Amino acid sequence: MVQAKPPFPSKLLLLSLLVSILAIFDNGVQCFQGKKVLSMHKFQWKQGSNSSTCLSQETRWENGATILEMKHKDSCSGKILDWNKKLQKHLIMDDFQLRSLQSRMKSILSGRNIDDSVDTPIPLTSGIRLQTLNYIVTVELGGRKMTVIVDTGSDLSWVQCQPCKRCYNQQDPVFNPSTSPSYRTVLCSSPSCQSLQSATGNLGVCGSNPPTCNYVVNYGDGSYTRGELGTELLDLGNRTAVNNFIFGCGRNNQGLFGGASGLVGLGRSSLSLISQTSAMFGGVFSYCLPITETEASGSLVMGGNSSVYKNTTPISYTRMIPNPQLPFYFLNLTGITVGSVAVQAPSFGKDGMMIDSGTVITRLPPSIYQALKDEFVKQFSGFPSAPAFMILDTCFNFSGYQEVEIPNIKMHFEGNAELNVDVTGVFYFVKTDASQVCLAIASLSYENEVGIIGNYQQKNQRVIYDTKGSMLGFAAEACTFD
Ligand SMILES: *[C@@H]1O[C@H](CO)[C@@H](O)[C@H](O)[C@H]1NC(C)=O
Ligand SMILES: *[C@@H]1O[C@H](CO)[C@@H](O)[C@H](O)[C@H]1NC(C)=O
Ligand SMILES: *[C@@H]1O[C@H](CO)[C@@H](O)[C@H](O)[C@H]1NC(C)=O
Ligand SMILES: *[C@@H]1O[C@H](CO)[C@@H](O)[C@H](O)[C@H]1NC(C)=O
Ligand SMILES: *[C@@H]1O[C@H](CO)[C@@H](O)[C@H](O)[C@H]1NC(C)=O
Repeated sequence: MVQAKPPFPSKLLLLSLLVSILAIFDNGVQCFQGKKVLSMHKFQWKQGSNSSTCLSQETRWENGATILEMKHKDSCSGKILDWNKKLQKHLIMDDFQLRSLQSRMKSILSGRNIDDSVDTPIPLTSGIRLQTLNYIVTVELGGRKMTVIVDTGSDLSWVQCQPCKRCYNQQDPVFNPSTSPSYRTVLCSSPSCQSLQSATGNLGVCGSNPPTCNYVVNYGDGSYTRGELGTELLDLGNRTAVNNFIFGCGRNNQGLFGGASGLVGLGRSSLSLISQTSAMFGGVFSYCLPITETEASGSLVMGGNSSVYKNTTPISYTRMIPNPQLPFYFLNLTGITVGSVAVQAPSFGKDGMMIDSGTVITRLPPSIYQALKDEFVKQFSGFPSAPAFMILDTCFNFSGYQEVEIPNIKMHFEGNAELNVDVTGVFYFVKTDASQVCLAIASLSYENEVGIIGNYQQKNQRVIYDTKGSMLGFAAEACTFD
């Protein structure tokens, strides 16, 4: 039976006391017996800090690795007056974002260029992918500080460039290549220009006089960046200069990029930051995504020296499933356990699941989702239900509770690797007063769509991408920068 603690505990008082004494207390989250306790007061729903303070994040160099402080974009977007609206908007955007990703995969597989017409079901609202791409770091390009979004589902890095035909508002000054002696234009005859198709889904187009390599990245939702490829000195922080870093100098950019100067692609293809720095970092990077509701920092670590991680459980590795056509990271999800019960579904181990830093909610094939939901609801009974919200259909009203005890959810991957979902990654607060709190996992529309492991379930984990060894590792870690 699931134990819950009502506001005025009666019979459960003794048990609760005992539990409190035995439990390991970590950030307001207690952990015991394959179940975890989520405190309703854990989330602070802060108003948001001054945007100026978070646009210059720190970097540190340690044991051959470069450690970049990583923050949630919301902590930089000024005051959040209405958290409820914000939380709900994130979900709406996440749904658009998923459809745009699915359509991007389809067009890459079918060899078509992605133009906006392919994505007709998605309304022309800007910046959807970018609104769900929540994590930012600060780097130096051509000697200037830039705060950029990080994305494992993108390959080409880009920043807005002067002169702009069209630029959205950003916090840092817009990069001006003509004042940077280290900037070079990439010509369309160069091999990097040929790589654009796999990196962006669109072929490079030759400009005239000089024959620049013009790129287009459409995020499938009306937001885009267009410009020419260039190379520049990229400094990831102290002692880590990347010479001739290939990036997009964006002259025509539209979308709600949250004041960031651009984006850094951590994908698999040859133009990504990871491929371009593989001589320096061995093709290994990792991140720890902080929880969104506070101003916590996480980290993006370039390089694979595990001595810099602060993981509290051993790292378990799984094989990355090669997919030569799609520049994304795929894993083989072989099972899910709820508490100590293994969920049964025929689709486990069938197709690769994408792991993504820019999709919020994990999407599972319908058969797996249904089995997971049934088992979860079975073990997590006795709580008042609440209406579904958007893609989330398993919702509860916790407004009468100070804390709830929830069954552990573990995702298992080929090679006995596991992702033990942090207690903050199980429920999505649709309403901050906890009157509508939903299981933060959703179903895909069709069994044959590509499943995605979203960033909500990756919080407070060290997630290690070893692109050379073609392995991905998970370990629990409370994310901080220090
Ligand atoms: C924001 O900045 C202003 C002035 O720069 C300062 O007075 C105010 O206290 C700051 N607010 C927060 C929440 O740090
Ligand atoms: C990894 O870190 C350890 C210190 O913990 C250091 O001795 C070792 O040289 C580092 N390895 C590399 C490749 O830098
Ligand atoms: C680089 O690191 C060294 C020592 O770690 C420090 O003394 C120096 O100030 C740093 N430089 C910059 C630009 O951060
Ligand atoms: C996933 O792993 C299982 C168990 O090792 C294996 O049977 C299955 O073929 C794998 N699936 C894929 C898509 O590689
Ligand atoms: C949630 O539960 C509380 C008390 O437990 C109740 O007062 C409130 O009306 C419920 N809210 C909704 C939206 O059902």
